[in-house]
Amino acid sequence: MVLTTASKGRGDSGEDDENADHYLNSTFASRYVREAVPKWRMPKKTIPKDAAFQFINDELMLDGTPRLNLASFVTTWMEPECDKLIMASINKNYVDMDEYPVTTEIQNRCVNMIAHLFNAPTGDTEAAIGVGTVGSSEAIMLAGLAFKRKWQQKRKAEGKPFDKPNIVTGANVQVCWEKFARYFEVELKEVKLKEGYYVMDPEKAVEMVDENTICVAAILGSTLTGEFEDVKKVNELLTLKNKETGWDTPIHVDAASGGFVAPFLYPEIEWDFRLPLVKSINVSGHKYGLVYAGIGWVVWRDKEDLPEDLIFHINYLGSDQPTFTLNFSKGSSQIIAQYYQFIRLGFEGYKNIMENCMATAKILQNRLEKTGHFDIVSKDIGVPVVAFSLKDSSKYTVFNIADSLRRFGWIVPAYTMPADAEHIAVLRVVIREDFSRSLVERLISDILKVLKDLDDLPTTSATPINTDTAIKKKTDRQIEEEVTGHWKRFVKERKTGAC
Ligand SMILES: Cc1ncc(COP(=O)(O)O)c(C=O)c1O
Repeated sequence: MVLTTASKGRGDSGEDDENADHYLNSTFASRYVREAVPKWRMPKKTIPKDAAFQFINDELMLDGTPRLNLASFVTTWMEPECDKLIMASINKNYVDMDEYPVTTEIQNRCVNMIAHLFNAPTGDTEAAIGVGTVGSSEAIMLAGLAFKRKWQQKRKAEGKPFDKPNIVTGANVQVCWEKFARYFEVELKEVKLKEGYYVMDPEKAVEMVDENTICVAAILGSTLTGEFEDVKKVNELLTLKNKETGWDTPIHVDAASGGFVAPFLYPEIEWDFRLPLVKSINVSGHKYGLVYAGIGWVVWRDKEDLPEDLIFHINYLGSDQPTFTLNFSKGSSQIIAQYYQFIRLGFEGYKNIMENCMATAKILQNRLEKTGHFDIVSKDIGVPVVAFSLKDSSKYTVFNIADSLRRFGWIVPAYTMPADAEHIAVLRVVIREDFSRSLVERLISDILKVLKDLDDLPTTSATPINTDTAIKKKTDRQIEEEVTGHWKRFVKERKTGAC
């Protein structure tokens, strides 16, 4: 069916060119619809389903290719059998637990499997304490709230002030911790980094702990370099400090990316509930849990570690349902997909995939070193990430390399390290299951082309930034203004009201 109603569509009047950006433009959709479809207002009329599909499909072609997106830890490939399960459950609202009891049971099985993987001290017949979330960010908000509430209850009972809670972390924490701190009014006390050491120093962290510290947050798999923080050392030092002071400051482990790597590759590293002060752990199912975006998990050591008054009991959907999440409705598919991966792959399958990713990371690292241009910043032990900096940034920078790689479709992020290592800028490649050895070879060959092009440029055209004078320490306010300015420009350029 072709709609031919006359309207202010593209090509209808002189005004159209001016307004072109207000209307959708799709080559093939014109087979089905001739009427201009507005971009920023709901169209007045219905259009055929083929046209709607074509409009959207054509626009989405301009997105990057997920499998070439080396910036993201998030899974971009699953088996077709799992895709089928996802589609079959896409219409189930997870929160309707009474209507979908099997899905609820499946989430509980996943929680138990994860708690067991992280050595929670629950007996074989005891149910583990945890919940599925939208990702590690929601999981961290929940864990943080539990710590805050427990600390407040204790302080109230002791007749002490309870209005200045803080969390001690490394300056390398992911932004979701800053979000938690701002949204839930908890101060984030960050241990500064230094050149050559890009994770939280346990000694400095424990020194920063005071009576208002609700927890120390350690990261298993730093977002910046993939490195594991030394949770065992934090546990050891904090145990001593707790003994001296009479406090009982606990530890949370942000295992967003490392939680599905360490148990398979480094079972001997003690970072989980084997350490007595570790009270809760989050992990992203959609990272090395191998599920598409939209699933995370948080597990607690014991039911005492999750204050009862944070749990909501609802009964209007049929029976008493305890919930502890930030939102109400959400899809079920991701939970089912996680369960699929657990039973499909088992311990053996996850181990094989993680070993393969590490081997690929090693090959990439060797190839990068061989170019003679880069220093490897990531460590051998950690999640399969290769972070690398330029040996010589006087002519061009990692930012120029990241920009140029876009030409070949690669998305490789470049960024500066947090305080006090801001003068170090790196590129980072996340090795996921779908990043094959042949893609490594292709990436290296494209990096070599980019380096040659940049080397051939006249010196004046490059913009060196990585010099002592070029990077000056910025205040938090300056950084905030820069980021806000960037987003404002981004939004304006795209003429969208949302970001
Ligand atoms: C260490 C760490 N924590 C938390 C997060 C947030 O995870 P999510 O994207 O699952 O919300 C990330 C994401 O990259 C991360 O690397």
